[in-house]
Amino acid sequence: MSESSAIGVFDSGLGGLTAVKELMRFLPHENIVYFGDTGRVPYGNRSRETIKKYAMQDVRFLKSKDIKVLIAACGTVSSVAGDLGSEFGIPYTGVVKPTALAASEATNNGRIGIIGTTATINSSSYKTAIENIDSRLQVFQQDCPLFVPLVENGFIDRHDIVVRTVAERYLKPLIESGVDTLILGCTHYPILRDVIADVMGQGVILIDSGKETARYAARLIYENNLANPQRLNGVCEYYVSDKVDGFSKIAGLFLGNCINQDVHRIKIEHY
Ligand code: DGL
Repeated sequence: MSESSAIGVFDSGLGGLTAVKELMRFLPHENIVYFGDTGRVPYGNRSRETIKKYAMQDVRFLKSKDIKVLIAACGTVSSVAGDLGSEFGIPYTGVVKPTALAASEATNNGRIGIIGTTATINSSSYKTAIENIDSRLQVFQQDCPLFVPLVENGFIDRHDIVVRTVAERYLKPLIESGVDTLILGCTHYPILRDVIADVMGQGVILIDSGKETARYAARLIYENNLANPQRLNGVCEYYVSDKVDGFSKIAGLFLGNCINQDVHRIKIEHY
């Protein structure tokens, strides 16, 4: 491993590409290896043991690519898989800590809402992280299990009646709690940002876990003297565990632009 090695990023699927998009913006000279476990997504409704087992395999694959920093761009893995960095001896961040820090700095009234998958919310990971930063902060949590399948099936339009109805149903208790800051605690949720913003109303600050994590990863790289000395444009290699057809279209949704690049399929169960 050297400074010119890549940053390894993984997610249960393609949602983690919302973090890759921000990484490319903050760290344009860094190479990235992305793994999306498209063959086993979703993780968010599985047991802690299964999520941990999958995460370990995902990291072993990325380690085989000689990465210098590891990012779990997945709210669920970050919440339940523990400190993967110490286990694998590599600088590491999940999405919880950077996002909790950003939310605690953003709130004015001390009331923070969190939305995420069922596994994330059941773990109370964000709540614990926020309360550790400042025990006076009040945290309100809501799982939104239908958000991921909506995004994966292209239901993302803020005016779509189905999307809006689901968003209103999930977000109502958080509005009633008077939160002024809402953590989008799952990497799929920035795709639903418009409808979430409409429903929450003006004045509620939305915190994007992918973006905050990319910002934090940039700090991790500079603090560990791991910046790529080659000042060329970084490249991203993409790996998935299921079919590669249609990858560029769906990946484009998360990355915000189309990619004309090969994607590789791997057998993740071999790691
Ligand atoms: N990537 C997951 C997360 O950020 C959402 C999809 C899933 O349930 O696996 O929590």
